[in-house]
Amino acid sequence: MLALIYARSENHCIGKDGRIPWRLPDEFAHFKRTTMGRPIIMGRKTYEDHQSALPGRLNIVVTRDRGYQPAEGVEVAHTLESAIARAEQQHRDGGPVFVIGGVGLFQRAFEQAGTVYETVVHASIDGDTYLPPFDFSGWTSNVIESHPADDRHAFAWTATCFARELGSATPGCPEPSHTD
Ligand SMILES: NC(=O)c1ccc[n+]([C@@H]2O[C@H](COP(=O)([O-])OP(=O)(O)OC[C@H]3O[C@@H](n4cnc5c(N)ncnc54)[C@H](OP(=O)(O)O)[C@@H]3O)[C@@H](O)[C@H]2O)c1
Repeated sequence: MLALIYARSENHCIGKDGRIPWRLPDEFAHFKRTTMGRPIIMGRKTYEDHQSALPGRLNIVVTRDRGYQPAEGVEVAHTLESAIARAEQQHRDGGPVFVIGGVGLFQRAFEQAGTVYETVVHASIDGDTYLPPFDFSGWTSNVIESHPADDRHAFAWTATCFARELGSATPGCPEPSHTD
């Protein structure tokens, strides 16, 4: 089952200068907790933000460059479809395969996705990478975490899980971890 996970600002910014334009440690912990143990698929630019494997997960970077050589422990695929096939070959449990960015892969994967984890960062941010809104009509949604701004977080944020029925796959969202 394909899942998306991303954080966007209120004006739909997700990136600036090849990086995520905020530092929200508890939001990153949410990302880590949600994706841990699962395959993660990312575009080449998203991968190059960290240039190493995110531990505890099968990392697959998608690029059209046939000679691309990522860091040890990171696999390469040349299409989204082959990345998904590789992830499902490694994880045959029907659990989520996460697409973690960027824009083109999110948009392509959305059509097949049963679950979307969307964090809204409550700020308007100037960047260079924007993810247009998805149409979630017909999906169910569940707020899983609301976090205030504090001394470690410049902005408040809210993480919501959206799910829909897709064929025989049973999508699901976790219960809220806490709501402030
Ligand atoms: N806030 C968030 O949650 C979040 C999440 C992810 C990323 N980001 C940010 O977004 C920015 C990067 O995103 P982006 O959209 O610019 O780039 P991206 O999707 O990470 O990378 C684009 C590259 O991926 C490869 N690619 C994408 N789709 C492909 C396909 N269908 N087949 C083959 N290759 C494909 C191509 O690589 P080649 O050019 O090598 O062929 C393409 O140039 C960064 O600032 C990053 O920090 C933010």
